[in-house]
Amino acid sequence: MSNTPVKVAVTGAAGQIGYSLLFRIASGALLGPDTPVQLRLLEITPALKALEGVVMELDDCAFPLLAGVETSDDANVAFDGANLALLVGARPRSKGMERGDLLEANGAIFTAQGKALNASAASDVRVGVTGNPANTNALIAMRNAPDIPQERFSALTRLDHNRAISQLAAKTGAAVTDIKKLTIWGNHSATQYPDIFHAEVGGRNAAEVVDDQAWVENDFIPTVAKRGAAIIEARGSSSAASAASATIDAARDWLRGSADGDWLSMAVASDGSYDVPEGIVSSFPVTTKDGSYEIVQGLEINEFSRGRIDATVQELTDERDAVASLGLI
Ligand code: NAD
Ligand code: LMR
Repeated sequence: MSNTPVKVAVTGAAGQIGYSLLFRIASGALLGPDTPVQLRLLEITPALKALEGVVMELDDCAFPLLAGVETSDDANVAFDGANLALLVGARPRSKGMERGDLLEANGAIFTAQGKALNASAASDVRVGVTGNPANTNALIAMRNAPDIPQERFSALTRLDHNRAISQLAAKTGAAVTDIKKLTIWGNHSATQYPDIFHAEVGGRNAAEVVDDQAWVENDFIPTVAKRGAAIIEARGSSSAASAASATIDAARDWLRGSADGDWLSMAVASDGSYDVPEGIVSSFPVTTKDGSYEIVQGLEINEFSRGRIDATVQELTDERDAVASLGLI
């Protein structure tokens, strides 16, 4: 076991997602069974008391890998020396809202946190954004942290990826472990495009196995894209345990690597691949290794997929323009 704990900062630590996320990180689900972790938790001042209760519960678990917990309402303190920062804290949407409605309310959080990361985080920091609207919040944090390479920022579309795997497995009668190479393109929003044209079910092309374009268009894509709203409708509050689980999956695979013969969906700074303009954070198929990612290249994009990718990318460029006009980037 390495003796140096990895410092993981989590924002919004007293919130719903935090309540699932922290215990799994402390148990080793993110960094593995041999790596001690120090948690550095950020909350707004009124939530510090609730956070104290969460820390009491973390203590009470006596997690062997948990090498300390620091709490603060100051981002510079919470991010001090952080090797991984999971930016969860933001207001969730409620019934009837789209995630983009949160741009102004939440965008300001990410300017301040980008600056604090730039000033305080470790030189190897990786930043994963879960708080909505996640893609554009990641863009805001990235643009406010000019000394951190932009490849160190990502936004969460792994929940959408996992949702799509689950739906495709149910449709085909396959196990979730039989589904590979699924892609979420674009925004973590209702315009996202879950793409099965390159996916595999038990080694066979998923679109051929399904052989039902009407299901893809009228059932699969809307079910995945609107799953967050369906959960808000059913639970009365937004997804939390599944969002925490996806946040762990995404960070774990980023740091520890994707499986051979498969890829993941991550929203990252576009380098122009697949004609997605530079200057936005958009979801792509990626492979990962040791804290780096590579966008999978050379996939053939059919006409249907092109239209869907263009639509979700348009929404991201509109969001970018909106936060630029708010002076956030
Ligand atoms: P929540 O309201 O339960 O918790 C959010 C916490 O963030 C609160 O405790 C709040 O005090 C804290 N917070 C607010 N501003 C902060 C700041 N400036 N610094 C630090 N902490 C701050 O919400 P939740 O259900 O945990 O969701 C958090 C965010 O994650 C929401 O924006 C939600 O929409 C988003 N989300 C994203 C995904 C995804 O797949 N990307 C999935 C689910 C939820
Ligand atoms: C989700 O996808 O469940 C989250 O982004 C919450 C939401 O607002 O949909």
